[in-house]
Formats: sequence, structure tokens, C-alpha cells
Amino acid sequence: MKKADIGMIGLAVMGQSLVLNMESKGFTVACYDLNPEQSVKGFVEGRGAGKNLIGAYSLEEFVQSLEKPRRVMMMIRAGKPVDDYIEKLIPLLEEGDIIIDGGNSHFPDTMRRTAYVESKGLLYIGSGVSGGEEGALKGPSMMPGGSPAAWPHVKPIFQSICAKVENGDACCDWVGENGAGHFVKMVHNGIEYGDMQLICEAYQLMRDGLGMSNEEMHEVFAEWNKGELDSYLIEITRDILAYKDEKGEYTVDKILDTAGQKGTGKWTAISALDEGVPLTLIGEAVFARCLSAMKNERVTASAVFPKTVPAFEGDKAEFIEAVRKALYASKIISYAQGYTLMRTAAKTYNWNLNYGGIALMWRGGCIIRSVFLGKIKEAYDKNPELENLLLDDYFGQAIKELVPAWREVVAYAVKAGIPMPAFSSALSYFDGYTSAKLPANLLQAQRDYFGAHTYERIDCPRGEFFHTDWTGHGGGTSASSYNV
Ligand code: 6PG
Repeated sequence: MKKADIGMIGLAVMGQSLVLNMESKGFTVACYDLNPEQSVKGFVEGRGAGKNLIGAYSLEEFVQSLEKPRRVMMMIRAGKPVDDYIEKLIPLLEEGDIIIDGGNSHFPDTMRRTAYVESKGLLYIGSGVSGGEEGALKGPSMMPGGSPAAWPHVKPIFQSICAKVENGDACCDWVGENGAGHFVKMVHNGIEYGDMQLICEAYQLMRDGLGMSNEEMHEVFAEWNKGELDSYLIEITRDILAYKDEKGEYTVDKILDTAGQKGTGKWTAISALDEGVPLTLIGEAVFARCLSAMKNERVTASAVFPKTVPAFEGDKAEFIEAVRKALYASKIISYAQGYTLMRTAAKTYNWNLNYGGIALMWRGGCIIRSVFLGKIKEAYDKNPELENLLLDDYFGQAIKELVPAWREVVAYAVKAGIPMPAFSSALSYFDGYTSAKLPANLLQAQRDYFGAHTYERIDCPRGEFFHTDWTGHGGGTSASSYNV
């Protein structure tokens, strides 16, 4: 019997969809899951019936059914289950065999696992896979990293099942060593949080500020999806707003306003704090989910501080256009911040990231796919060393044109009492990033005053530190001037 080209452990939604995708591209796939009698049998005799699949009923049988070097992919819950399977697989595999983790694993885990699996003579890949069920079935965005020697063996499969852009380029390429693939997927998810929050803020401005109906907002998002904001998330928002249940009522109005999260946005924000990168928009997007989850407290507080959003008294169509511009400007900031995080982390972890290539991987198949990412690819292809997206000619010019409308929208929201954490923090970042002079001179003075933490002077070379005896009764000893 023909051996399988690749094996899949984990036959939940994503695992099944990827298996069917691989099979449809001509690969024979071995399938295994815990509780094989139920899940393996159910799948190979159900959705997978008549296809080139090998159902395995033990891990030994599964491994034996694979062509060498064996390619074992896991689509299972991140965390301990991944470590458990690695332990079970190691004694069954041979030198040069490859273990692939396609779940949303935290990148430090993937770094640790790559080193561990390599120490056993095997190869390891940790790959981001984005696009949900439909993406996995028809073409996801894939972000593999790990042992470079594994890539040539996995590339033909991954690049044939992944999403393609208009010219046929694959939305999957080698990202880098050890945890690089999962790191890039983590940043993708953080950006996903930011994009979703921005759309939600635009929705709240239109719903609460302009008093618009779902149908009207559906029309607006449909319009926005034809221009610069053309993206998967705007598209599904358009459709969600028009969706009615069996009673003919809007489902979106019946959903409780408390957001869930599985942690990848939080990891992105933590990583930004670790790297000292101001990733303010994504941070606010994570906190906005946390605040939304405090439903009972919010209901109590809303009774203590009642407010009525004043009726909007301007030109509605003009304001909607200003909201579109504010969203677009904030989105540029979010990607500028996300890319800065990747650049900084690449230095920390010694990854040689291809920033244009990452934009291409995100251009199709994934949740943040958009026309906009094509422009980001152009910016980084033109200048791979670009320090900040705002310093690219195209985006710099775009922001300049968007700023007046952006300020107008944030000012309106502040006056009306509509929370805009992502729109407004993006604007504050922009104003800070474009300020040659910030008030940190005073901050340094405060640190030196109470803790002799020292400061640098504008009239002396950088790297020389000074201490002032501010009160006249402090000692002459200063604290060391290290930074974290
Ligand atoms: C993707 C998504 C996916 C993520 C979900 C849930 O790229 O396909 O990012 O990986 O798990 O969107 O994320 P939250 O539960 O944290 O919103």
C-alpha cells in the first residue's frame, strides 16, 4: 500500500480541513486522533470517505504508515498536549523525521521544543496557520519556522495548500529559525485584535454617535470594502450587520457585549513590553476586551455616571468619511507598531525576517488579509531596512492627508463620551512619534530627584550621566543608570 506523504494528529475542525485540503492537492494523508475508534473512523468513513487517506488506530500504526523522512503535523490544543505528543513521538521516529506543530503555540515554547527535538536527532517546525476553518480547507496563510533543514521537505506540501495572491504567489514561506514562525503568527493575531477593535470603534461611533441603523452601517461597510480598507474583516462586518435570525431580527443586536480571548493578543502586548516597543494600539485592543468582559461592573457604573450621547449636529456623510479616514490612519499606526515589534524581536532572537515576505504571507488566506498588505509589501520590498512604516513615502503621505479627519473624529468622540481607545491611542502615538521634544526631561528630573537615577544633558554628549543634589541635603552618590 502507498505510504502517506504526511500525517495529521488532531482531527478537530482545523485538522480535518487541512487534511482534506492536502488530499485535494494530490497528497496521501495519514490521520490520527485520541479516541481513534470514534474520531478517525468517523472522519475517514465520513467526510473523508473515498479519499486518499490512511486512518490509523494507534500512534505506532500512524508512524509506520508514513513515507520517510516522516512528516508528522499536529493540529491540537496549544500547551501541554503538544509536549505530550512530542514525548510520545520521539521514540517512534527516526533521525531526520519532522514534527510540525500547526497550532497557536507561544513562540518561547516553540524555541524550546525546536532545540529539544533537534537534540533527539529529529527536526521541528512550529507554523502559524491562519484563516479559520474555511481558510484551512481552501487555502490558509502559513508561517513556518523552526529547523531550517526541515523546510525543503515540507515546502512542496505547504506551498501547494496555502492561499495564493492574484499573481499566484504563495501566502507561505520560511519565516526563520526556532520560534520565528509562531512569533510572526502571534503578531498577526495581535494585529487581528487591533483591526477588530478599530472596526468596533467605527461601529460604535456610527451606532451611538450618529444613531445609524444596522442596515445603514451595512451599506457603509460595503462601501468601505471597495476602497483602501478592502479586507476580510470589513467584509464579514458588512455581512454580520445585515444578518437576521429566523424571527427576522438582527443577530448582532442580541449578542452580549463581552469579548472573549484565547491569549495571543495578550502575548503580543507582553512581548512588546519585554522588547520596549510602544505597541499601544494592540495593547488597548486587548484591554478593551478585558473592559468589555466586566459587564456587571459596567452596568453598575453606568447607573452611577449616567450619560447621554448628544445628538450629532453636522453633516452625517462627511463625518462617516472622516471615520473611515480615522480608521485607516489608525490601522497604519497599528501595522507600523506591529512591524516595529517584529524588527526589534528579530534582533533579540537573531532572526533574519523578510518583512515584505511577511506582508505577502498575510496578504491572502488569513484573518487580517487585505489590499493594504500589498502596499506594506511594496514598502518593505523597496526598503527592507525601513525603520517605521510612517517613514515610507506612500504611508507618510497617506497619514498626512488623513490627520485632520482623524483629529476631528477623536475630538468628537471625547466630547460625546464615546470610548475610542484604539483611535485615540493611535493618534497619541503618532503625535509622540513625530515630536522631536517630549516632556521626558521633567520625568528624568523627577527620577533623579527622588532616587538619584541620573540624567543625560542636552549640552553634553550622549552616554554621560549627571546627578543634581536637588534639595541641598542629598548625598553626592548617584544610583547606577541601567535601563531595562
Ligand atoms: C487565525 C486566528 C485564530 C485565533 C482565533 C481566536 O489566524 O485564524 O487568529 O488563530 O485563534 O481568531 O482568537 P481569540 O479567541 O483570541 O480572539
